Amino acid sequence: MKIAIVYFSKTGNTKKVADLIAEGAKKAEKVEVKAMSIEEADYEFLNEAKTIIVGTPTIAGTFSWQIKQWLDTSSNPMFAGKLGAVFATANYVGGGAEVAELALLAELLVKGMLVYSSGAGEGQPFIHYGPVCIKDGDAGQKERAVIFGERVAKKTAELFR
Ligand SMILES: Cc1cc2nc3c(=O)[nH]c(=O)nc-3n(C[C@H](O)[C@H](O)[C@H](O)COP(=O)(O)O)c2cc1C
Repeated sequence: MKIAIVYFSKTGNTKKVADLIAEGAKKAEKVEVKAMSIEEADYEFLNEAKTIIVGTPTIAGTFSWQIKQWLDTSSNPMFAGKLGAVFATANYVGGGAEVAELALLAELLVKGMLVYSSGAGEGQPFIHYGPVCIKDGDAGQKERAVIFGERVAKKTAELFR
């Protein structure tokens, strides 16, 4: 079963975190994982994916307009009924990454997705709305990104087996 990680990344931070999430997701059995930028999105893979994880830099306290444009111009059936999850990068704590994530989660709900983050439901580390990395993350933030990928993949296998 396929898990797609789609992101916008101008200076590379969000791409690096996407790759960490992919690394974590690949730890689950029977999953095929692909990370891709919105510019190089693989629509065949996205259409077949059971889960789509969307990543964004924090821009002026919310998610990037490029992600908004991509969502607004992508077909709803590609998302509907699938598992959705989000992550964000930012330059500083308190810079709005969680607002970016919540706004993005709301977009995924409108697309008809089932949204998931693992929250406090899997014990430590808590990942409330999705992992946040400052730039491409310190060691702890990087580890959380990997764990998030693993948890989302596990949930995908539970829901769609
Ligand atoms: C125009 C612009 C606005 C930004 N606004 C914020 C912000 O509000 N809060 C914050 O923490 N970081 C902000 N940043 C920093 C980016 O979120 C951060 O560097 C991010 O990791 C960039 O991702 P990328 O390397 O994948 O492009 C901003 C960056 C740019 C270029």
